[in-house]
Amino acid sequence: MNESIVILDFGSQYTQVIARRVRECRVYSLILPYHTPPAEIARLKPKGIILSGGPSSVYDDEAPLPDPGIFKLRVPILGICFGVQLLGHFLGGRVERGLKREYGKGTLQVQDPECALFNGLPASMQVWNSHADKLTRLPRGFRTVAVTENSDFAAIEDRKRRFFGLQFHPEVAHTPQGREVIANFVHRVCGCGSEWTMRHFISQAVEEIRGEVGDERVILGLSGGVDSSVVAALIHQAIGDQLTCIFVNNGLLRAREAEVVRRVFGQNFHIKLVYEDATRLFLQRLKGVTDPERKRKIIGRTFIQVFEAGTKRAGKAKFLAQGTLYPDVIESVPIAGNPAALIKSHHNVGGLPKRMKFVLLEPVKRLFKDEVRLVGRELGLPDEIVYRQPFPGPGLAVRILGEVTPRRLDILRQADAIVIEEMKAADWYYRVWQSFAVLLPVRSVGVMGDERTYDYTLAFRAVESQDGMTADWVRLPHDLLEKVAGRIVNEVKGVNRCVYDITSKPPGTIEWE
Ligand code: XMP
Repeated sequence: MNESIVILDFGSQYTQVIARRVRECRVYSLILPYHTPPAEIARLKPKGIILSGGPSSVYDDEAPLPDPGIFKLRVPILGICFGVQLLGHFLGGRVERGLKREYGKGTLQVQDPECALFNGLPASMQVWNSHADKLTRLPRGFRTVAVTENSDFAAIEDRKRRFFGLQFHPEVAHTPQGREVIANFVHRVCGCGSEWTMRHFISQAVEEIRGEVGDERVILGLSGGVDSSVVAALIHQAIGDQLTCIFVNNGLLRAREAEVVRRVFGQNFHIKLVYEDATRLFLQRLKGVTDPERKRKIIGRTFIQVFEAGTKRAGKAKFLAQGTLYPDVIESVPIAGNPAALIKSHHNVGGLPKRMKFVLLEPVKRLFKDEVRLVGRELGLPDEIVYRQPFPGPGLAVRILGEVTPRRLDILRQADAIVIEEMKAADWYYRVWQSFAVLLPVRSVGVMGDERTYDYTLAFRAVESQDGMTADWVRLPHDLLEKVAGRIVNEVKGVNRCVYDITSKPPGTIEWE
């Protein structure tokens, strides 16, 4: 079992960020709901517990309160923000309801440099606050180790029990030295080593996959995206030819995409690959369809059908592998007024029909996306796959507004290839979440040479995002915009105008359909 830190989630929008910061210290972390029974936590033998922040007040009727038994586990505890209020509430301090939220940067003055959390850190540093209630009397056994202009209890410690509380958020980027504070907690206070590396993960996962699969066979739907690609390489490392990947070409892929997948997995990795080219079937069914939701449904249904045919060609298999990630399996805590608990992914890949009886194999379900990328690199996957931008399942169909036809696909593919090429050339491609072209069903008048044209308009979109749930349009340099627009209009026949989309999400969505 890995050394681990348990993070109890009280509904903070930053809970996953805390978990990632701990893992960046090469220590395994897992997120559990705030009400997890202490006995269950004890069974995991964590080296430490972090109490996340959260939007609630300990005085709320339905405040998320932990079982006080967690304070008796003899494990170091770090309470962050709402976590400090919990220490105050349960351990004999006093918490006062704040009428106004303290929100923003503050300056922390460390009063006791002996405190393990601030080891090696300056006496004064910038921190980020976001809280309403505050501690007004120390819990029993605690002392103040740092203050800010607004709080006499910005950092508190009970050295004997190894309990700590931070009123500020060490996990966010606005607390520049927060990483070191968390590193001090996990290494100095909890005594964790640095064993959570992706190389170590791979060797563990390979053993686990071998143990679970035995002599059976595994099937994997390969999309060419990061997650399924990494899972393919990982499982292949474990069981070689017992794995067969199925790659469905729905005819809605970008230029060279099918080619790259076949080259990387078929030729370089020698992974058994069933290649289903169903372009004609998909385009036939999409004929005349303009409604975005109908497009999605048709594509989803057809995909399942073609995939099922692929599984038959691949031969009998007991397991179906999937690239499920940690954020998909964390049990979210429903806390009143917490938007983080309400936002749910609306893009869950539609389940396969029940008649397809497989046992699921999900070897990266403990990993965050950035860790999956590291595993991919470690396994030798090329950057064009590991750092690939997200691409929707329904592919270019949702980037062609109106009917999807071979000619429109052709136009969009050419424009999209230019976008990718220029974004890469200008060193922007890997810095944004997504960048792509959208073909609009709008024609406008232009002039080329001496001729009047009446052609399509392309929208160019580039967004920054952490998870696709919210996004901001990217302020790309004007000369890059000019280059992309110039090339698209000059090189792509049928297009005479290019516009840049400056809508953020919300209120827009990232894709246009
Ligand atoms: P929206 O357009 O909803 O997209 O802001 C958020 C993220 O999800 C991707 N996306 C999809 N992914 N199937 C997918 O697998 C879909 O139907 C789909 N629609 C959007 C989109 O590219 C963005 O990253």
